[in-house]
Amino acid sequence: MEIIWGNQLAEEVKADLRQKVDALKEQGKRLPVLAVVLVGDNPASQSYVRSKANACISVGMENKTIVLDGDISQEALLEKVKELNADPNIDGILVQLPLPKHLDADSVIMAIDPNKDVDGLHPVNAGNLLTGRDGFVPCTPLGIMYMLKSVGYEDLAGKTAVVCGRSNLVGKPVALLLQNQNATVTIVHSKTPHIEEICSQADILVVAMGKEKMVKANWVKEGAVVIDVGINRMENGKLCGDVDFEDVKAKTKAITPVPKGVGPMTVCMLLSNTYRAYQIHERG
Ligand code: GUN
Repeated sequence: MEIIWGNQLAEEVKADLRQKVDALKEQGKRLPVLAVVLVGDNPASQSYVRSKANACISVGMENKTIVLDGDISQEALLEKVKELNADPNIDGILVQLPLPKHLDADSVIMAIDPNKDVDGLHPVNAGNLLTGRDGFVPCTPLGIMYMLKSVGYEDLAGKTAVVCGRSNLVGKPVALLLQNQNATVTIVHSKTPHIEEICSQADILVVAMGKEKMVKANWVKEGAVVIDVGINRMENGKLCGDVDFEDVKAKTKAITPVPKGVGPMTVCMLLSNTYRAYQIHERG
């Protein structure tokens, strides 16, 4: 059994980006800039936004964190997004979700320039992924594919993959990426009967359900690679995933931990998408 340490893999990706940014600096060029919009004072969102800003700094990219009042109007938020779209010095735009209840996240996502949509959430980018075109792919799915590659799972022909969860941010895009790599993919979700039986057929099991330690040993095929996207805070204050790591690990070929698993990969893929957005803008 191998533990896939996302924090270590993330350092590899960041070292590569740092070199690329250093080269830009040496050539006296403009540096990539990521704008992160935080609306309100949700503590979890504040912490995620901080870690995104710190990650930018750690590779020498620039970060512009825009904190807006929790009671901002929909119109004012859309105006802010338009301003960032029009700003030639901004490469990537990320609006931290969830937004306060009075705001409509969908129309905010729709307002982001698809060429700056480093979250890959705009329907143009979602459609590009669906139809096999180039575009921005959401960061967590990109990180998951990188983790699979790190254990030699790249061409997935002949492998069955089961994705638990059907969100636009994780479940749906990761299923498409797995399929692009020739895996035979099944998506299951909270309303799927016999979910554990279906999961127990998977050579690759990706779990993004948001349910603390839901996946037990009987859900897992002997020798499976298990990717745990969940981040749940237990009553004792510690973090855990959607997979019961201790129960499952002995059965797996490889498994991601929580914390230090998928989370750090998501953040570094955001940097990688920002660098890509920069390249697109510089090419004009
Ligand atoms: N909230 C939790 N994860 C994410 C993410 O990847 N992007 C955005 N915009 N908000 C999030």
